[in-house]
Amino acid sequence: SVLGLGLEVNVDYVAAALVDLAGSRVLTTTREVPQGGDALDVLEGLALEVRREAPGRIVGAHLAVPGLVERDHATVRLAPNLGWTDTRPGDRLAASLGLPVQVDNDANLAAVAEATHGAARGTASSLYITGTVGIGGGIVQDGRLVRGSGFAGEVGHMPVGQPDRRCACGRLGCWEATVGLRPTLAAVDVTGEGTPMERAAQVAKRASTDPAAADVLRSLATDLGRGLAALCTVLDPETVVLGGYFQPLAPWILDDADATLADRLPSADAHRPTLRVGELGIEAAALGAAEQALADVLSGVAAL
Ligand code: BGC
Ligand code: NA
Ligand code: ZN
Repeated sequence: SVLGLGLEVNVDYVAAALVDLAGSRVLTTTREVPQGGDALDVLEGLALEVRREAPGRIVGAHLAVPGLVERDHATVRLAPNLGWTDTRPGDRLAASLGLPVQVDNDANLAAVAEATHGAARGTASSLYITGTVGIGGGIVQDGRLVRGSGFAGEVGHMPVGQPDRRCACGRLGCWEATVGLRPTLAAVDVTGEGTPMERAAQVAKRASTDPAAADVLRSLATDLGRGLAALCTVLDPETVVLGGYFQPLAPWILDDADATLADRLPSADAHRPTLRVGELGIEAAALGAAEQALADVLSGVAAL
């Protein structure tokens, strides 16, 4: 069968996925970006390797980016944690792969994948929150992704974090400057290498022996729950999916985040969203990207 290629560029890792026409995952892979390395270089290398695994079968590619994307122009307006403004990262990948490469927001792509066949399947309205260096959001309402004018779901920059923390976007008090991976690693004094998942696993391990680290995770859960309450007050989703680095931390944060949500959500007595852990792992965005790549090619064929 023909395959869609999904790619994700991020701060300290990149990912790739191949999906076939039946919607099955054929391959997922992640690679660390070495300190000081160029994430797009690492991704280009990985993408070329993946293409060699499936000669002639890949019909299109999508790139997931941790930032604000103008899809129609394949332009990243701002990716704060990568330090990118007004760049077109798809062009270089398209040239080296010899394939069209569309660009979209990481959390949006992951949200659709989790809603289609992950932790939010079977629910029409869900909110996906990804945790990496940044905090991203993908809003699905009545089975459709909410895009607003194009940038909806930038939840990491809501001013609901600790007011004195500086965000990579330049502002103070953004949610991700409090509940993102970096402040959490710093607070528990874990500097380890690896993908966000590997590092979060180290944080969880630390918490099991160090009460101060467990405290850090309790306050992380409260800060997480407070932001979720704000979002759920507006959106009233059936399901909230916590992806990315929140997955390995779930045993430490899920109950406390849920308690804060119950406490701060006006409608909590009548309806409370179900808080779930993502099922697609750190590859959720790359998988969503692969599915979208295939869907675009198929809709193009159908329009002929
Ligand atoms: C970016 C979002 C992204 C999130 C997770 C944030 O800093 O602004 O676009 O979805 O990080 O990667
Ligand atoms: Na988003
Ligand atoms: Zn910010």
